[in-house]
Amino acid sequence: MSNPSLDVLEELSKKLSEHIRELCTTNSDGIAIRREATGIARRLVDELIDPEEWAAEQTVALGECAAIRMFMKWGFFDKIPLGGSVSYRELAGLIGAQEALVFRLGQMLVSTGMLVSPMPNSVAHSRLSPLFKSGDREGCWFAMLWDDCQPGLAKLPEFFEKYGPREPVDKTLPLSFGLSGDGQLDPWELVAQRGTEHIEQFGHAMQAMPTYAWPYTGAYDFEWVAKYAVTNSERPLIVDVGGSYGHALRVHLTKFPGIPPSRCVVEDRAEMILNVKKEHENDTIMKYVTKVPTDFHKEQPVKGALVYLIRRCLHNYNDEVCVNILRILADSLPDDEPEARVLINEQIMTDPPHRFVASIDLTMLTMAARVRSEQQFEKLANQAGLILVTVHKQENTTMGVVECKKGSPMA
Ligand SMILES: C[S@@+](CC[C@H](N)C(=O)[O-])C[C@H]1O[C@@H](n2cnc3c(N)ncnc32)[C@H](O)[C@@H]1O
Repeated sequence: MSNPSLDVLEELSKKLSEHIRELCTTNSDGIAIRREATGIARRLVDELIDPEEWAAEQTVALGECAAIRMFMKWGFFDKIPLGGSVSYRELAGLIGAQEALVFRLGQMLVSTGMLVSPMPNSVAHSRLSPLFKSGDREGCWFAMLWDDCQPGLAKLPEFFEKYGPREPVDKTLPLSFGLSGDGQLDPWELVAQRGTEHIEQFGHAMQAMPTYAWPYTGAYDFEWVAKYAVTNSERPLIVDVGGSYGHALRVHLTKFPGIPPSRCVVEDRAEMILNVKKEHENDTIMKYVTKVPTDFHKEQPVKGALVYLIRRCLHNYNDEVCVNILRILADSLPDDEPEARVLINEQIMTDPPHRFVASIDLTMLTMAARVRSEQQFEKLANQAGLILVTVHKQENTTMGVVECKKGSPMA
């Protein structure tokens, strides 16, 4: 193995210490500098790490994930007091677990610094570990990945052995092959099958990383919808199709207060809408939004809306299914309103890809789906009776809004 070049290492170290200095002196939260710094630090490790250490680190990462998941499952991150510590004996006593088992899992987390051990046999929170407390959206994201996605990824060798080394395209999915063995259930059936707590976990996970990976705003300006609401008092304004808790819609309604929530709709699967209605009861904005159980593969219950917003749903499906979903939306657009739009809000694949986008694409591969490029979105739109107007993207983000209107590119 060749040694890394001194020039490269010195350049990276210099940049890293400049970023660290800037981070320590800035008055803002410094999130952009912090991310650049972690990116440089990762590159430094990539330059320095040797193959044996790399292999050892994957072992550590797996062990850490498994221990975190068990501590989450048993609610231990909630029981560790902020600013204090708790003994393994107390934790074990809370759920009637064997203390020796809790000790071994806890020591895994102490070894990586995810938990701190201020005295023998006790643990305290680290800087990051509170994110695994109940209901935390990033913690739920991690749990969703571990519970729902990781088994399918881990079983890819067996899946491709059985079904051949091709992109999965039909109804036999690596995701459900990993989870249930036969590969026949779709992701939503799998989530629903695991019960209310799991549905809630999924809904919270969908709200994770709103600045890092899945920004709601910045790419598209909904102010024109607020202006439209003044001149037209009838038309439904925004329908959030497959909107989960309607969290994206909520951010837009907060940012553009001229859009009346009572003229907006959140649609999702029936079991999801039950949870959503409960969660929205006391929400000052969302309690006015109409919630409609919907199957977006079959029908659009709200016809003639100004905007159908579909966010992070198409990446869950193959092209054929996406065209059907989009065609149903295209057919629901009003004929008498040329400004009406279908807005597809998704990660946009680039070449070379962003590392996070590539990892989401692989997860989507386990659902016979994908993250798409601008060109791939245009093709889908055209097949569904839509014309791509513009792809809106904010600088330095990977999410985009593919703006489409009704029509045929051939017309
Ligand atoms: C990946 S999530 C995206 C949720 C939300 N749009 C967001 O960006 O956070 C996909 C959503 O589609 C919903 N969904 C799945 N199948 C559906 C169907 N047939 N009809 C309506 N919604 C569905 C899921 O319940 C889930 O909330």
